Amino acid sequence: MTPVIETEELTHRFGREEKSVVAVDGVSLQIGAGEFVLLRGPSGSGKTTLLALLGCLLRPTSGRLQILGQDVAALPSRALAGLRTQTIGFVFQGFNLLANLKVWENVALVGDFLSDRPQGTRSRAVDLLRDVGLGHRIDYLPANLSAGEKQRVAFARALLNRPPIILADEPTANLDAANRTVIADLLRRAVDQQNVSVVVATHDDRLQPWADRVIHIEDGKLGGGNIDLARMKGTQGS
Ligand SMILES: Nc1ncnc2c1ncn2[C@@H]1O[C@H](COP(=O)(O)OP(=O)(O)O)[C@@H](O)[C@H]1O
Ligand SMILES: [Mg+2]
Repeated sequence: MTPVIETEELTHRFGREEKSVVAVDGVSLQIGAGEFVLLRGPSGSGKTTLLALLGCLLRPTSGRLQILGQDVAALPSRALAGLRTQTIGFVFQGFNLLANLKVWENVALVGDFLSDRPQGTRSRAVDLLRDVGLGHRIDYLPANLSAGEKQRVAFARALLNRPPIILADEPTANLDAANRTVIADLLRRAVDQQNVSVVVATHDDRLQPWADRVIHIEDGKLGGGNIDLARMKGTQGS
């Protein structure tokens, strides 16, 4: 079976010459459909950069990236933008919600550009917000939400276009245990019910009970001791 994400010697260097930093260094990995993978490593290890590469938000300096069997480097920028919108739901560190838009508008935003039926987009946004327990907050502005609520809005937005891939950067870093559980359950449900592939960058191990596999990164390189939790689908507690 073709992996959903496949990289070969993926490398990203910031800057040039003696001041340059190799943030991602020769990373080769495969992520399958319906896999929940944690990308773990200390601060500065290259998690955000690798996630941005996988999300096609950043072009690699060298190496290869395939998304759903397509070589990303070979795609013209229009096609790349289409692939990104349709295939990848990205949850940014710090949520990236637009302050002047209501909660439902923030979620519908990524669909409005694509859809000639904005009404359908609105109702899907509202349905997703209900799914994440925010049905009573759809007309709020982001400033009036808690951190946990903002993160749930960011996930609803990432799910809008039914992407087969969700990438999330430290999604639970600023959340309490209860909200961490809500977010982790939400991701696990997307994996189990919609066969979504999830990669979560994190510097702590508290999400491990929800994941299928842990990939370790340090100094831009994947570590040897990647843990395969070999979990049985659907047996996790919550
Ligand atoms: N825009 C940038 N310009 C220069 N260096 C960067 C940039 N972004 C990240 N880096 C460097 O790349 C390395 C990896 O950073 P990052 O991917 O943010 O790690 P993490 O998310 O694991 O904390 C660090 O040394 C960081 O300082
Ligand atoms: Mg980071």
